[in-house]
Amino acid sequence: MVDLGCATGPNTFSVLTRVIDTIQHLRRNGNQDSQEFQVFLNDLPDNDFNGLFKLAESLKEEKGLVFGSRSRCFVYGVPGSFYTRLFPRNSLHFAFSSCSLHWLSQVPQGLVRQNKENIYISISSPPEVLDAYAEQYKRDLSTFLRLRGEEMVPGGRMVLTFMGRKVNDFSSQEHYKFYSMLAQTLLDMVTEGLLERDDLYSFNIPFYMPCQQEVRSIINQEGSGGKLVAENIRAIMEPMLVSHFAKLKNCDALFERYSWKIGEYLLKEKAECHMLAFSLNRGD
Ligand SMILES: C[S@@+](CC[C@H](N)C(=O)[O-])C[C@H]1O[C@@H](n2cnc3c(N)ncnc32)[C@H](O)[C@@H]1O
Repeated sequence: MVDLGCATGPNTFSVLTRVIDTIQHLRRNGNQDSQEFQVFLNDLPDNDFNGLFKLAESLKEEKGLVFGSRSRCFVYGVPGSFYTRLFPRNSLHFAFSSCSLHWLSQVPQGLVRQNKENIYISISSPPEVLDAYAEQYKRDLSTFLRLRGEEMVPGGRMVLTFMGRKVNDFSSQEHYKFYSMLAQTLLDMVTEGLLERDDLYSFNIPFYMPCQQEVRSIINQEGSGGKLVAENIRAIMEPMLVSHFAKLKNCDALFERYSWKIGEYLLKEKAECHMLAFSLNRGD
């Protein structure tokens, strides 16, 4: 199992303990001595992994917190962004991430300066800024889901918690007042000549609070539906398309777009496919 965005603890260890306790409880009639757990703690390379493992040791000694006395738990650090592949294919049984997925892989492109004195989406942010943030989030969450989809075993389970907003409409209210207040404080210091205006105008936070509908839609689009249909159609259509369309040397781009379209369609419509089955006997 893995904790994606584990930070330096101690929360990561309480989740791990809970998961291990639950498994042991469910398998209480089995031989617990034979149970072994392989746990990966992931965060960005700058994370203090030394501090994390020191804490693990102290918790182990003090409370036996992480490693139940009878369970064998092997813990590994995995430095790297969860927006990249971190594990071999079909290797994860359980992945969780708490309070980390609202961090984007980067500040949305093209934002510099358009957001002026705002450092996140605010009521006074122009619509292009909202769109750029939403697009970046969509790209990032889709990437995250696709990569984990490759890494998890069939039937594996993932639990994610992250910050979000309650309403769809971003422009109706400030969604993260604390960032607006930080922006205001920075602006005060710019006005007093303590900070450069240019530095404030070029600073935006790579953070996004999606609403529930946005997340559902991305999960559905990234989910197997659109891809599965697109792959099936590709198997039939690719040779015909390639031989007809002179510029279509490689169908990857076409079917990538096509699977998104199908994903969107499947969000609204139920796809039905009727199969006809016949059983025939040869007459006398
Ligand atoms: C608020 S902390 C959450 C810590 C912990 N999961 C908890 O619930 O207490 C967010 C963590 O996500 C990590 N993080 C942000 N972006 C990440 C990325 N792309 N890949 C891996 N970790 C990331 C940060 O470094 C930070 O440690």
